[in-house]
Amino acid sequence: MAYVVTENCIKCKYTDCVDVCPVDCFREGPNCLVIDPDECIDCTLCVAECPVEAIYAEDDVPDQQLNFIKLNAELSKKWRPIIEKKDAPPDADEWAGVADKLKYLQR
Ligand code: SF4
Ligand code: F3S
Repeated sequence: MAYVVTENCIKCKYTDCVDVCPVDCFREGPNCLVIDPDECIDCTLCVAECPVEAIYAEDDVPDQQLNFIKLNAELSKKWRPIIEKKDAPPDADEWAGVADKLKYLQR
């Protein structure tokens, strides 16, 4: 199993999750993060850190977000590691309450 970043991260990208990960398994895309499932050790620490509750255990991913399991696996092999928190986009708070953000995901 691994932990999975889901659509609430898109355009929010607060990156609080990054600082607590003991194995540096977050990967950064243009407007979202993902977790490398081959590196995640299921420590659970990142879940509580995300202000928009974007991170789930693989077994707990909501039905409408199941495609993010595959997206994390695929995009984590393409995107670069991020190992330190950085500033969120200036409009992150405005996007925090928006639903159905998958169409905004930049790869
Ligand atoms: Fe990193 Fe732990 Fe979160 Fe996995 S569960 S991404 S190891 S902080
Ligand atoms: Fe994204 Fe939440 Fe981390 S918004 S960058 S999963 S803290």
